[in-house]
Amino acid sequence: MRVVIIGGTGHIGSYLTPRLVEAGHAVTCISRGVREPYLQHSAWKHVTQLNLDRSAEERAGMFGERIAQLDAEAVIDLTCYFLESATQLAEALMDCGTYLLHCGTIWVHGPSVEVPTTEEPPRRPFGDYGIRKASIEAYLLDRARSAKLTVTVLHPGHLVGPGWNPINPTGNFNPKVFTALANGTEVAIPNIGMETVHHVHADDVAQCFMMALAKPDAARGESFHVVSPAALTLRGYAEEMASWFGQPALLRFLPYEEWRQSVSEKDAAATWDHISHSPNCSIRKARELLGYSPRYSSLQAAKEAVSWMMQNNLV
Ligand SMILES: NC(=O)c1ccc[n+]([C@@H]2O[C@H](COP(=O)([O-])OP(=O)(O)OC[C@H]3O[C@@H](n4cnc5c(N)ncnc54)[C@H](OP(=O)(O)O)[C@@H]3O)[C@@H](O)[C@H]2O)c1
Repeated sequence: MRVVIIGGTGHIGSYLTPRLVEAGHAVTCISRGVREPYLQHSAWKHVTQLNLDRSAEERAGMFGERIAQLDAEAVIDLTCYFLESATQLAEALMDCGTYLLHCGTIWVHGPSVEVPTTEEPPRRPFGDYGIRKASIEAYLLDRARSAKLTVTVLHPGHLVGPGWNPINPTGNFNPKVFTALANGTEVAIPNIGMETVHHVHADDVAQCFMMALAKPDAARGESFHVVSPAALTLRGYAEEMASWFGQPALLRFLPYEEWRQSVSEKDAAATWDHISHSPNCSIRKARELLGYSPRYSSLQAAKEAVSWMMQNNLV
């Protein structure tokens, strides 16, 4: 197939773009050309790179048209954060049979009721990002129902892979938490450590996009969670990482308001975002309809990322 991948050099694209080439697709990658993919791969030689600034093109009202003119059979959109962006692209692709695969987020969910959360519950997002992504999902699936657009929405959890810091067992990105666990020194955890995070390895997200691409009949008009098989509690995550480092876990539990005094405002805000969502999502739908079978548990993915951090003196 002729496949356009928008944002194909980032966390997900570093895995997905080579997978598309290896599957025999003719791939055009859209980005500004500012960053390199996280992984070297010979497949990149076979990718047509088109440097476009989506924001600038959208302001000029041209982005949708520019993508439509590429005449792709499938467009994978990894960089859509605003309803206006989704609308411009979807309207340009409507009625022309192009299959749109949109990258959402599990932040379309607000507070959980039954866990693991399925794709079914009405969306109750909170926070600007989750609200915007939920409005995009609602719009795209509505267009699918009116049969004007062939679209699938995949909702990843916290992306993990070698090359960037994963969410740590206190719910933020500070690498010092892993260093403390590696040294067997005390780590303060908010509340009682039973709030959850739900990681996914970026290559498992790439795997799921490949499956949705290969099975449009099963995937069209649907949204799917793309996470590891199981979420982690902060406490369990800390204990398992300490054990992996060969250390006892010296954990202290503090009410969030007290805990936040011990960290920067940035770390406190990231932690609050994660623990107030406490995601715990089901992958049953993706397993059953697409055959999604993640290669990494949350801990396996985190350990691979932390190994990379250690090699790069970040831990
Ligand atoms: N990060 C997470 O943990 C997480 C969790 C759940 C869902 N998601 C979803 O995942 C998607 C992001 O995927 P990702 O993390 O793989 O992306 P990413 O690592 O942030 O990469 C962004 C990609 O888009 C390109 N890009 C950025 N700005 C651009 C612009 N103005 N015009 C054209 N290209 C641009 C970048 O290349 P250049 O910089 O060279 O342009 C790069 O290829 C989003 O839809 C997000 O909602 C992320």
